[in-house]
Amino acid sequence: MQRSFIIAVDGPGGVGKSTVSKKIARKLGGLYVDTGAMYRAFGLAMRDAGVNPDDDDALTEFCSNLDIIYRADENGIFINGLDYSEKIRTEEAGGLASKAAAKSIVRRTLVAYQRTFGNDGIIVVMEGRDIGTVVYPEADIKFFLDADAEVRALRRLKEGRDGLGVKDMKKALAARDRQDSTRKDSPLTRGDDAIYIDSTNCDIDEVITLFMTHIKKRLPRERTAPLD
Ligand code: DC
Repeated sequence: MQRSFIIAVDGPGGVGKSTVSKKIARKLGGLYVDTGAMYRAFGLAMRDAGVNPDDDDALTEFCSNLDIIYRADENGIFINGLDYSEKIRTEEAGGLASKAAAKSIVRRTLVAYQRTFGNDGIIVVMEGRDIGTVVYPEADIKFFLDADAEVRALRRLKEGRDGLGVKDMKKALAARDRQDSTRKDSPLTRGDDAIYIDSTNCDIDEVITLFMTHIKKRLPRERTAPLD
C-alpha cells in the first residue's frame, strides 16, 4: 500500500472543475475521480429505489447495502449493478444529488469509497465540494476553482444536455450552490490552504497553465516523468 499523490479540486457547480481536472490528470498520467458523479448517481438510484431522503431509516438501510463502482477510465458510474453513467448529466440529477449530499449518512458512505483511491501509489486528481476539506485534508495540493454565476451558467449550458435557458440555468445553479454551501455536514467552503483560482476571465488553457505551474512546484521529482 503506497500513498497516492492527491490533487484536490473543489468549487461550485458549472465552474469547469471536470474539464480542468480531466486534462490535468491526462497530462500527469494520473487518475481522474469525479465525486459529483457519485452523488448524482446516488440521487438517481435513491429515487429509482423509491427511497425518500427525509426517511432516515430507509436512507440508512439503502446506504448500508450500497454497491458503488466508479470506473475512472471510462467515466462510468454504477450503483447496485445499474449503469448511471449517461443519466447523471442533467440538472435534475444535480438537484437530487445536492439533496442527498446534505445527508450525513450519504456523505459518510460516499466519502469512505472516495478514500479508497488514496492508497494506490498513483497520482489522483479528485474533484468535488469537500475534497480538500474533508475527503483528503492531507492532500498534496488543493485548489478552489471559482467563476461568476453568469459565466458558470453559460459553461454548464455549453455542455448542452438540459434544454434550459441561461436564466433558468443560473437559477438552478444558485439554488444548488445555496444548498451545498449552507448544509451542516461538509458545506462547500474554500479552505485556507487551498489555492484560489478565479476563472471568470480565463479560457481553459490559461486555467490549466495556472494549475500546472502550482502542481509542478509540489510534485516529487520521481513523479514528473509524464509532464510535458
Ligand atoms: O459537481 P457536480 O455538479 O456534479 O455535483 C453534483 C452535486 O453533488 C452538487 O450539487 C453537490 C454534491 N457534491 C457534494 O456534495 N460533494 C462532492 N464532493 C461532490 C458533489
